[in-house]
Amino acid sequence: MGRLRNVLVGALPLLPATFALPSTLPNNLRAPNNRRQDDSPSADERAQAVINTFRISWDGYYKYAFPHDELHPVSNSFSDSRNAWGASAVDALSTALVMGQKDIVNQILDYIPKIDYSKTDTTVSLFETTIRYLGGMISGYDFLNGPLADLAENKANVDALLKQSIALANTLSYAFETPSGVPYNNLHFANRTSDGSANGLATVGTLILEWVRLADLSGNKTYASIVEKAESYLLDPKPASSEPWPGLVGTDINVTTGEFLDASGGWVGGDDSFYEYLIKMFVYDSSRYSALKDRWILAADSTIEHLTSHPQSRPNLTFVAAYEGQTLRLISQHLACFDGGNFILGGQVLGKQAYIDYGLALVDGCHETYIQTATGIGPEVFGWDPNNIPNGQTEFFQKAGFYISNGNYQLRPEVIESWYYAFRATGDTKYQDWAWDAYLAINSTTHVGSGYSSIEDVNVKGGGGFNDFQESFWFAEVLKYSYLIQAPDAEWQISKDGKNKWVFNTEAHPFKVAGS
Ligand SMILES: *[C@@H]1O[C@H](CO)[C@@H](O)[C@H](O)[C@H]1NC(C)=O
Ligand SMILES: *[C@@H]1O[C@H](CO)[C@@H](O)[C@H](O)[C@H]1NC(C)=O
Ligand SMILES: *[C@@H]1O[C@H](CO)[C@@H](O)[C@H](O)[C@H]1NC(C)=O
Ligand SMILES: *[C@@H]1O[C@H](CO)[C@@H](O)[C@H](O)[C@H]1NC(C)=O
Ligand SMILES: *[C@@H]1O[C@H](CO)[C@@H](O)[C@H](O)[C@H]1NC(C)=O
Repeated sequence: MGRLRNVLVGALPLLPATFALPSTLPNNLRAPNNRRQDDSPSADERAQAVINTFRISWDGYYKYAFPHDELHPVSNSFSDSRNAWGASAVDALSTALVMGQKDIVNQILDYIPKIDYSKTDTTVSLFETTIRYLGGMISGYDFLNGPLADLAENKANVDALLKQSIALANTLSYAFETPSGVPYNNLHFANRTSDGSANGLATVGTLILEWVRLADLSGNKTYASIVEKAESYLLDPKPASSEPWPGLVGTDINVTTGEFLDASGGWVGGDDSFYEYLIKMFVYDSSRYSALKDRWILAADSTIEHLTSHPQSRPNLTFVAAYEGQTLRLISQHLACFDGGNFILGGQVLGKQAYIDYGLALVDGCHETYIQTATGIGPEVFGWDPNNIPNGQTEFFQKAGFYISNGNYQLRPEVIESWYYAFRATGDTKYQDWAWDAYLAINSTTHVGSGYSSIEDVNVKGGGGFNDFQESFWFAEVLKYSYLIQAPDAEWQISKDGKNKWVFNTEAHPFKVAGS
């Protein structure tokens, strides 16, 4: 999930940009197919195994948590971290659809018309609500008015997906009533107020795909004009000092002025999906959104030139550093590992092999973060600053090329997501094998009680304990990408020639592209 927040934990030393090793790419990149010679399962069998995991997760959720937001699989209880509108159900819809799980599709479709989006006791995040709820309903509407129409038992429930999207957007839209038009993120529906005078790059820049799709489906152009206004400040960043390299910008934005408040960022949580959506809007509608594509190219070129970093202990790995001004921070995250897939997508749609090759190098780096740990699952935060190796990790750093700054695994998708793009672009079955190995590791390590849970430590066999929380994006993203990389071709799969009929939002909900 192009996703959020803070996450650059701990006091991190700053290194001058010149510290980064030269940005040559490893010359791997067009490795021949290394299909295994053993009797590992066929792609169809793998796809079926992922469906089985989806059904186990859904059954646990439906029995112990529905219609609350998420399942606590250890204690067979639930919580409502997303305003108690049934986040797991709405997030599961598009995955149940692509997997053809008709019974689950209709359980969700029967429920969505009953949600009252105008009521909640807790603070509403404009960003989270947009990517999960609006994204899930819009994707369901696109599929059920298109290639998967046969899966709905009741046409009125399909129409309700659009009606509920409109109702939700109309409730949220007061967030954009600020002096600049840059929205507030944290909303109190009961008294129509908002918290905070600043918003973030990802939370502002990850709305445009969902709201524009809704404008196109509903005919209400206001949904597009308010997000385009907000986006305009991100495309023309002020002050100039907030753009340390062309296209790469700061993180915090003053909602009164629309100006950036800092020059720190990267492809990490808090910034990530702003860059992701620049190229995805071009996929969605290349005629309306070519200005966003131009900004993506600037950011991509600056990233290759200035943020590329090779760990001292394993110089053939490629990571992307974060930055404070022009000073690099040799740290990254599971969240940031969507970057390889995003470069590959950009390379495909722009017909530029250099972006694909760079994306494949990033995909290799994130693969290392999985295969080097005791569980075969990658950590939440990792670093490769040789002057900041945590106690006891020197040997690990020498062998792995990185050290672990936060060893949680929160059922995140980004590494498998990027392998999905790598497989679709190259056809190289090694990426299917990687995704299968990761699926097996996740399926065995995180399974507990009635479902699957976040774990404490990816570098301890067994995962070091469960946090008793099954994220809604487990349904939307991890299981969808794990399935699609093994699944037969379909019109919603990423196409090899860069001419896509569908585009995935940051929560992995596929939308039909404009005019297709
Ligand atoms: C269009 O959307 C805006 C923003 O939510 C809303 O205020 C307006 O009432 C909508 N117009 C119609 C005709 O529904
Ligand atoms: C609005 O509601 C929120 C949440 O209950 C509260 O924190 C805030 O103080 C209220 N604001 C006003 C202006 O009443
Ligand atoms: C945002 O800008 C306004 C107007 O210049 C200023 O009063 C306010 O303090 C700024 N807010 C932040 C968080 O910097
Ligand atoms: C890096 O080099 C090592 C040998 O030093 C090799 O085993 C490994 O496959 C290489 N990794 C990549 C990503 O090229
Ligand atoms: C996935 O985990 C479930 C629950 O433990 C188990 O029943 C299933 O066999 C596992 N699938 C594979 C392919 O190992």
